[in-house]
Amino acid sequence: MVRMPSPAARIRIVALVLAVLALGLIALGGRCMLPTMVSCSATTIFGGPALDVPYKSTRREVVALMLELGEIAPGDTVIDLGTGDGRILIAAARERGAQGLGVDIDPVLVAQARDNARDAGVADRVRFEAADLFETDLRSADVVTMYLLPEVNLRLRPRLFEQLRPGTRVVSHAFDMGDWKPEKVAKAGGATVYLWRIPERADSMANGADRDAPTVGPATARTGV
Ligand SMILES: C[S@@+](CC[C@H](N)C(=O)[O-])C[C@H]1O[C@@H](n2cnc3c(N)ncnc32)[C@H](O)[C@@H]1O
Repeated sequence: MVRMPSPAARIRIVALVLAVLALGLIALGGRCMLPTMVSCSATTIFGGPALDVPYKSTRREVVALMLELGEIAPGDTVIDLGTGDGRILIAAARERGAQGLGVDIDPVLVAQARDNARDAGVADRVRFEAADLFETDLRSADVVTMYLLPEVNLRLRPRLFEQLRPGTRVVSHAFDMGDWKPEKVAKAGGATVYLWRIPERADSMANGADRDAPTVGPATARTGV
C-alpha cells in the first residue's frame, strides 16, 4: 500500500518543483541579457535555429536613411536579409512603393513580420520566409538590405557578386564589406549606413579586393533624414 506524504512533505515537494521551474526560467531568460541581445524572441529564449546574428532592430531614422541611400523607388524588388520584424522591407513597401521578400531564420520573427505587414497594409506586396539567408535566391533583387555582422557580410559577399545583376544596390546598416569600397556612407542618429552597387565586372571582385574602386571620402555626418 502506497503511503501519502504528510501535508508538510507535500508543501516541501511543491516548493522544490516551483524553485526548479523558477531557476529554469531565470537561466533561459538570461540568454536575453547577453550584451549582444537587445531584443529577445521566444526562439531566442527557448532555443531554435542557430543564428548567425542575434536579433537587434534598426531604429526608424536609420531605416529611413537605408531607403534613401538605396534609392528605393516604386516597383523595385527589395530582398531584406535577416529581416527580423520586417521593418525595413515594410517601410520600403509603404513609403517607397517597393515590393519584395524578407527572410529570417527565426520563424517567430517571421510570423511577427507577416502580422506587421498586414497591419501596415502592404501584405500584398511583401513576402516573409523562414529561411537561411545563405540559401536565399537573390537574383530578382534590385536592392538588397541587411543589418548583420562584419564576418557575415564578408561570407555573403561572394554570393552577392555571383547572383546580383550589375547595378543592383546593396545597403548595409552598421557594417561594411571589408575591402569592397562603398559608393556612399552616411550616418543617422549615430548609426552608419553603407551603399554599394554591383559593378559590371563583378567576377573579378567576388573574393578579392576592389582595387580599382574610387576612394570614398569620410562618412557624411548627418543627424537624420
Ligand atoms: C541584427 S538583426 C536585424 C533585424 C532587422 N533586419 C532590423 O534591422 O531591424 C539580424 C537578424 O538576422 C537573423 N538571422 C541570423 N542568422 C540568420 C541566417 N543564417 N539566415 C537568416 N536570418 C538570420 C536574426 O534572426 C535577426 O532577426
